[in-house]
Amino acid sequence: MTVKILMVCLGNICRSPLAEGILQSKLDPERFQVDSCGTSSYHIGEKPDRRSIEIAKKYDIDITNQRAAQFKISDFDTYDFIYPMDNSNYNNIIQLSRNETDKQKVKLILDELQPNAGLDVPDPYYGGEQGFEDVFKMLQSACDTIARKL
Ligand code: 4NP
Repeated sequence: MTVKILMVCLGNICRSPLAEGILQSKLDPERFQVDSCGTSSYHIGEKPDRRSIEIAKKYDIDITNQRAAQFKISDFDTYDFIYPMDNSNYNNIIQLSRNETDKQKVKLILDELQPNAGLDVPDPYYGGEQGFEDVFKMLQSACDTIARKL
């Protein structure tokens, strides 16, 4: 059986595409499926932000084939683990949950590094290139922990 993991941010063009690419690079594709989406509809169908594509490429990860999608209720049935990048998106998803089983699948991604600390992966969209480097490093650490546990 394939274990399915979903990374979630707001636009699905900056943070969650990186989280998808990074975790995928650490797992066996025969056994694991990693996807990403956004809670908003702002960028549906678009490629990841150029700055995310570039930082991923610097670390030998290709995310150019990804296209933005919006989170949907049926994702609770499809995925085993759902990782929002920040508290705002965590709350958005929890509001859509139908029952306790749905809720238990949802965990802040940085809680994998610092349990229950409630830390956000900051939104790098309106910042500079350094923001993307910082986000990449955070997601690299978090995905290392996730891959080790799976
Ligand atoms: P993301 O970043 O949630 O990491 O993809 C954002 C991308 C776009 C917007 C906000 C955040 N936006 O407002 O369009």
